[in-house]
This record gives sequence, C-alpha cells and structure tokens, in this order.
Amino acid sequence: MQASATTDGSSGQAVVAPPQNAVKAVQRIGVTKEVFPGEKRVATVPEVVEKLIKLGFAVSVESGAGDAANFSDETYRAAGAQIVNGAAALWAESDIVFKVCVPTPAEVDMMRDGGILIGFIWPAQNPELMQQLTAKKATVLAIDALPRMLSRAQKMDALTSQAGVSGYRAVVEAANAFGRFFAGQITAAGKVQPAKVFIAGAGVAGLAAIGTAVGLGAIVRANDTRAEVADQVISMGGEFVKVDYEEEGGGGGGYAKVMSEGFQQAQRDMYAKQAREVDIIITTALIPGKPAPKLITAEMVKSMKPGSVIVDMAAERGGNCELTEPGQSVVKHGVTIVGYTDLASRLAKQSSTLYATNLFRLAEELCKTKDGVVNVNMEDDAIRGLTVTKEGSITWPPPAPKLPAAATAPAKPAAAPAAKKAHGHGEASAPMAGSKLAIMFGVAALLFWLIGANAPKEFLSHFTVFVLACFVGYMVVWNVKPALHTPLMSVTNAISSIIAIGALVQISPLADALERPNSLITWVAAAGIVLTAINMFGGFAVTQRMLAMFRK
Ligand code: NAI
Repeated sequence: MQASATTDGSSGQAVVAPPQNAVKAVQRIGVTKEVFPGEKRVATVPEVVEKLIKLGFAVSVESGAGDAANFSDETYRAAGAQIVNGAAALWAESDIVFKVCVPTPAEVDMMRDGGILIGFIWPAQNPELMQQLTAKKATVLAIDALPRMLSRAQKMDALTSQAGVSGYRAVVEAANAFGRFFAGQITAAGKVQPAKVFIAGAGVAGLAAIGTAVGLGAIVRANDTRAEVADQVISMGGEFVKVDYEEEGGGGGGYAKVMSEGFQQAQRDMYAKQAREVDIIITTALIPGKPAPKLITAEMVKSMKPGSVIVDMAAERGGNCELTEPGQSVVKHGVTIVGYTDLASRLAKQSSTLYATNLFRLAEELCKTKDGVVNVNMEDDAIRGLTVTKEGSITWPPPAPKLPAAATAPAKPAAAPAAKKAHGHGEASAPMAGSKLAIMFGVAALLFWLIGANAPKEFLSHFTVFVLACFVGYMVVWNVKPALHTPLMSVTNAISSIIAIGALVQISPLADALERPNSLITWVAAAGIVLTAINMFGGFAVTQRMLAMFRK
C-alpha cells in the first residue's frame, strides 16, 4: 500500500512499494502506546504478534506500549516484533496502525499519507477526526462500526469483548467497595446472609456482571426492557424481574427502544422496591445514540442500606443514576457510587488480549492470502460495515447489511400469523408469491396423479414416505435462518441415523452390487450413507464445539 524509498534495516524486509506486476511487499503493522490519559490497554499482545507474523505481516511495537498491561518490550521482541522508540517513528514506518482509543489530532498528523488505521473511531461522534483522516487519504476500519448482527463478525466484535471484561470488573469494583462477603455462610460465629445484587440492563456487560456476581455467591436479580433476555439472565444463574406493564421493549438489532411514560413509571416503582431490598446495584442500561436513561433517582439512593454500592457503567453517557459523577467513586447518603468510565482498562491484560484477538481475526479476514498484504474488500458485508474511510473518501455510514429477508421485510399483518405457525424453529423467509405457489401445487398434483395411476402399489407407499420426508426436510432446513443451520446440524443426528439404517438395509447385498455394479438402488443407498455420515459426524463435531464453549 505504502510507497517508501527505503528498506527496513532491522528486519531486512522490504517496505518499498513494488512495480505493478511484481510480488507485493509485505506490509508492516505498527502498534502504538496509547496516549489517552490513564489508558492501560494495548492493541496487540505478544502471542498475537506471532500469529500476525504467520499471516505474513511485519510487526512494530512502540517501546513501552504494553508496559501498563504487563507486556514488556522484551516479550514483544521475543515474539518477533521490532521495538520502535517514539510515536513519530512508529507511525512513520507503519503501513497499518493498530490502536485502541480514538486517535488524537497529533497522532493523525504523524500518520503516513494513504495509511491504514484500525481501532475505535466512533465516526458519528467525531466528524472533525473523519475530515482529518480523509485529508491523509487514509483507509480507516472502525472496530466500533462492525455489523454485530452478522454471526461471522462475532469473532471480531471488540465492543462485546470489552463490555464483557467491563461487566466483570464492575462486580470486582462493587466487591471492593462493599464491606461484606457476596456468598452466604454459616460459621461458628453465626450466619452470614448472601449479598443481593440487582443488575439494570442485561446486554453484554450486564450478562457478564450477572455471571460474575453469581460466581461469587450473591443472589442476583436483573431487569431489561427487552423481554427476550429473560432466558439469558436465568441461564446465567440470575432471576429476571419483570416490570408490571405490558410493552415490547426491542428496538431492532438486539437493542432497546425508548419506552412509554407509563412503562417508565412502572419501572421506576419496581426499581425503587429493588433499591430498598438489595445491597449492590450495577447499571448498564443503554440505547445506542441516546443519553443513558435515568433509572436510579436520588430518592432511591437515599432508600438504600448504608454501605450499599452502585456501579454505574453508563457513567460516560450521563449515567443511569442521578448522583453518579463520571470517572469518580463518591459516597452519597452512605452509598458508594462508582462511575468509572475505564473499567476495561482496569483489567488491561485481559482486555488487551481479547482486543488483540479481535484485531487478529480481522487481519485474517483482510489477508485471506496470508501474504502480509491486506485487501479491504468492500464486497464483504463485515469489512464494508467497518470501513469508514477508504483511500481518503468517507464511506460511512454503510448501506444496510444484506440480512435474511425475514429480518428486513416489514411484517405483512395478514400473512404473518400463518407463516409463523408453519416454522417452529425460526422466522420465516419471505412468503412465496401466491400465483407461483398455485402453479407449483397444480404441477405437483398432476405429477402425483400420473404416478398414482401408473406406478406399482409397493412403489407408491415408499414414494409417499419419500415425498413427506422431502417436505419435512425442506421445512426444517430452508425455513430456518442461516445462522441456525449449525446448531440444527447438531440436532438432526436422529434423522440421519434413520436414513443410515434404511440405507444399510438396502446396501446389505454389497457383494452382489460389486458384481452387478448397475444395481442402482445399492449405489443410491451407498451415496445416502456417505451423505448422512457427513451430517452425523459433523453434528457430533458441532455439538462438541458448542459444549466446549460452556466448559470452564
Ligand atoms: P448493550 O447494548 O449490550 O446492553 C445495554 C442493555 O440495556 C440492553 O440489553 C438494553 O435492552 C438495556 N436497556 C436499555 N434501556 C433500558 C432501560 N430503560 N431499562 C432497562 N434496560 C435497558 O450494551 P453493553 O455493551 O452491555 O454496555 C452497557 C453499558 O456499559 C453502556 O452504557 C456502555 O457504554 C457501558 N460501558 C461502560 C464501560 C465503563 O468502563 N464504564 C465499559 C464498557 C461499556
């Protein structure tokens, strides 16, 4: 990408832009020391440096970049990175810069013209930065702009990985400020009651907080405006507390919507009751692009027991609690209110490792050829979503990603209930046009009549089973969202075994078949066994991988 007239002395790798038809030069990834005050995270870690080098890249790390996260220069050097003194040198020699925080104007000034930048950008909030980056003819991939609805993109989802770490850390902060055990105990000196924790908002951070608090032995309750998260709360070991008011809270894309005044009043009543009962409140409620909803009033804080703790994770967006002071831990009415906005950075080794892995997965997507040269493929939905400027042109916001028809098409009131009934496992794809359906039914009926009138009796019974099997198979596979195909594969083993048994019955005179290779049924049965074996063994493998995700 980057033209340069020199060669890199330290590694011997050429960074000179090649002539058009020559082998492309390996690109150099540079990792800066974060300059945002108090930021301890670093965009890559030594074990990921090795993987980046295996992808073909050269890697430079600014001296001291990993110090605050406990990764020394020496460990980066041992992994194969070149250590560079000073930010200016690092930015100047890097074709691609990996960063955590939004770059400052001074950092962008140091960037090469036409360079690539990957990190948090928040393009909607930073229009001036976007202008500065376009002036540099930069290609910028904003990790915060990843289309999170694409299941393929989950491995690159740094918002999720960082929010998960922050949710964990919120509980650790609460435990630090709380003067008691989380778990209940019966000791010789008496009984200790378990701590009661209430979590407001059960998104990524909220669920991580529930898991951590349950792990410490607390009684955990949670509330969210999106009713669909209730099962997730329960599966994490928490109890879902409903607001006594019927209203759909989903705003699309897994995010919430602003609720009606009636709902908000009922929610405030419920939160007031929880505030009187619990010892710790962790708030994570957020609707993207909106100020944080005020859920915990000053009155509720006053009503809490002395020594209670509130950790307000939404502090940066104004806070879910009226008394939060962003960035501070304060005590008001005997309650410690923690408003830290750098929770992920307070667990820097962990958050840096996860972030580095997210960026490595992105690097894999950008460099499928494993030759150390990135290809920002705008045809790829995930890459398109991330790319906010391409060679100096602003490409943000991206067009809506191509989701399955069911997710994007507005519901047709008359057709929707019937469609829903037919497809138990997932949402239906767009219903087929009525006339097309009628023609298909007509042709099928004619075909059945012809077969029924002419085929032998014993063939007909098998044929009926075959047609029904095709119909059920179609319903099971085609009418389920593509994202559910993998778990589906793991549960269709039973069907596969029936097919395998049937095929085995047919194939039994295999020896005969080998002598009479034209025996069609035997060969069809053999093909059936091969295909069904793929589903069965694939299903076992998928189940194994899914179970591994839940093993500690
Ligand atoms: P998320 O979008 O996954 O979760 C937010 C949840 O809040 C959603 O489940 C949503 O349905 C729920 N919600 C929205 N309005 C609500 C209401 N009125 N009542 C109840 N629930 C409501 O977001 P994520 O990633 O879990 O982050 C949560 C918060 O934590 C955000 O404010 C984020 O900025 C903040 N955060 C703070 C950090 C820190 O260092 N303090 C670090 C990382 C995230």
